[in-house]
Amino acid sequence: MKALEIQGEFGFEHLTFVERPSPPCGPGQVRLAMRAASLNYRDLLMVRGQYNPRQPLPLIPCSDGVGVVTEVGDGVTDLEVGARVATLFAQGWGGGEPSREKFGTTLGGPLDGTLAEELVLDRRGVIEVPEHLTDAEAACLPCAAVTAWSALVTEGQVRAGDTVLLQGTGGVSLFALQFATVLGARVIITSSSDDKLDRALQLGAWKGINYKDDPAWGRTARKLTGGRGVDLVVEVGGTGTLEQSLKAVRVGGTIAMIGILSGALAPLLITPILMQQIRVQGVFVGSGEGFAAMNRAIDAHQLTPLVHRVYPFDEAPQAMRDMTRGEHFGKIAITIP
Ligand SMILES: NC(=O)c1ccc[n+]([C@@H]2O[C@H](COP(=O)([O-])OP(=O)(O)OC[C@H]3O[C@@H](n4cnc5c(N)ncnc54)[C@H](OP(=O)(O)O)[C@@H]3O)[C@@H](O)[C@H]2O)c1
Repeated sequence: MKALEIQGEFGFEHLTFVERPSPPCGPGQVRLAMRAASLNYRDLLMVRGQYNPRQPLPLIPCSDGVGVVTEVGDGVTDLEVGARVATLFAQGWGGGEPSREKFGTTLGGPLDGTLAEELVLDRRGVIEVPEHLTDAEAACLPCAAVTAWSALVTEGQVRAGDTVLLQGTGGVSLFALQFATVLGARVIITSSSDDKLDRALQLGAWKGINYKDDPAWGRTARKLTGGRGVDLVVEVGGTGTLEQSLKAVRVGGTIAMIGILSGALAPLLITPILMQQIRVQGVFVGSGEGFAAMNRAIDAHQLTPLVHRVYPFDEAPQAMRDMTRGEHFGKIAITIP
């Protein structure tokens, strides 16, 4: 089977298509003929060696994918050949409390990922996807969508009438926009681009702020709520945005710490966290239970992931390079023949 590997050294220039033997399908496992994958910012960090410089190579990158079951191992009784399933980001986190062991089972590093024609996974590491989605759309769910779901629902407990602040118009933020809308919350979204803000408003965002034109966007967001502050911030920016997020959030509100797009290390005044009883909640994607709950919501509301562009498998390295330019609005997917 054909697969894309990071070979020898990290870097986009070391992405190489290879032929690998078909993996055996053991007891409790399922074999998937992969149909599509999608890219996350994490995959770019992984390829560049910035996510885990000690990751052994070669590695097949990418955590997210969808495939069709072509074989089930002994003992698998609840999934049939022909079922269309997505990969679970952390293969060992079907549900319950997170743990170090569960977090050590993520696809696309340390385990081989989804940019391959075939994948053999534990049955508990895959989940059926809503029927109305195309393969490329369904492939966008495992990381970005589940993360947004965890931030808003599992951890954020967003309710109708709440105000949610989203940063930028990448994969996580646009899923969060869709989920916030069906939950009945108002969304303030930031972007570096007025054009992207217009598109987000058309998708149901309440207000948009250009964070390049308005560096004090946290204060602006607070003003928009009449001085109360937002109930939840989905923090994908990291240390470069956290100071403004602390200005935007209400007393007793939550900041879901998700990303590091603007950095991970900086001196920071933490007194607002205690003086305003702000809950800073880390999010590491989410469990299979969360994925299943999210799928029910996607099905019930017939939500469709926003796919910016779909590339053929042969162009996967180019898709990754293109993603670094940050021009995308939503997800970048790859179809696998
Ligand atoms: N903790 C987890 O479980 C988890 C899961 C998924 C992702 N993440 C992390 O979350 C972050 C976002 O991931 P993603 O997949 O959504 O990325 P993405 O699709 O590549 O989104 C990138 C977008 O973020 C916006 N952005 C970049 N720098 C920004 C800044 N300084 N302030 C505000 N917005 C900024 C830009 O939007 P505009 O073009 O509109 O300006 C950019 O297009 C990454 O750091 C990723 O590693 C974490």
